[in-house]
Amino acid sequence: MNDSKKNVIIIGGLGNGSVIAAAIRDANRRGYNEWQAVGYLNDRIIKGDSIEGLPVLGSLDDIQYFTCKGYYFIYTIYRIDGQNYRIELFKRLNIPEEQLAVFIHPAAYIADNVHIGFGTVVMPNVSISPGTTIGKCCLIMVNATIGHNNKIGAHCHFAAQSCLGAYLNIGDGVHIGLNATVRENLTLGKYSALGMGAVLLNDIKEYEIWAGVPAKFLRNSKREFECLPIDHTSGH
Ligand SMILES: CC(C)(COP(=O)(O)OP(=O)(O)OC[C@H]1O[C@@H](n2cnc3c(N)ncnc32)[C@H](O)[C@@H]1OP(=O)(O)O)[C@@H](O)C(=O)NCCC(=O)NCCS
Repeated sequence: MNDSKKNVIIIGGLGNGSVIAAAIRDANRRGYNEWQAVGYLNDRIIKGDSIEGLPVLGSLDDIQYFTCKGYYFIYTIYRIDGQNYRIELFKRLNIPEEQLAVFIHPAAYIADNVHIGFGTVVMPNVSISPGTTIGKCCLIMVNATIGHNNKIGAHCHFAAQSCLGAYLNIGDGVHIGLNATVRENLTLGKYSALGMGAVLLNDIKEYEIWAGVPAKFLRNSKREFECLPIDHTSGH
């Protein structure tokens, strides 16, 4: 335990979890010492094993113990199909909002009137323009660009290099794929997704997955009953 830093546990593992842990270490090397990543909670890897140098401290059943001990958490369990179920899983963990770490890498640009919710991660070289509101537990991955005056829900995932215009309404649990681009003034319903490299020119309804240039409807994402049992460990 390091007394000057707040200790954060990553819920998840290899994938989003390990790249976020690496970014926290990189911030520490640059002299930004608010957070220290101390390990993972993971249901598939046994306690004491390590993931890229950090120990697995227990499983999701141990959340309450670590909450009482004053640890902070970053929830990295996301997947395009079954996002709604993963959000339900998160709610069942009952983590107090004030123990959800907001990690903003020092190499990110965030305009001064941007609001960022509890538990959201902003990775290196991200840019977020003025007047944008981002809900809790979003993961904004490297090089993502988010324009101005957007309303973004909770548990959204913006993959590396994704690019969003302005005045967007984005629901909870939305995934924007690697290098995908979203035109301004659109609405993306909850649990919808946009494929890698897409150029989106239209609104997307709840649960819809669109892909291509220009993006077209591909299929619906799976509902919770289609994706049980849940894989607690996947970072994607
Ligand atoms: C859009 C996506 C969710 C579809 O996944 P899927 O349902 O498993 O799709 P499949 O691979 O079965 O492909 C189905 C069809 O869609 C096409 N397709 C899939 N992804 C596409 C994309 N990004 N752009 C254009 N077409 C795509 C496939 O070529 C295939 O076409 P066909 O039926 O004519 O052969 C997925 O391909 C994707 O882009 N995921 C985002 C990945 C990402 O951002 N990762 C970040 C990791 S942190």
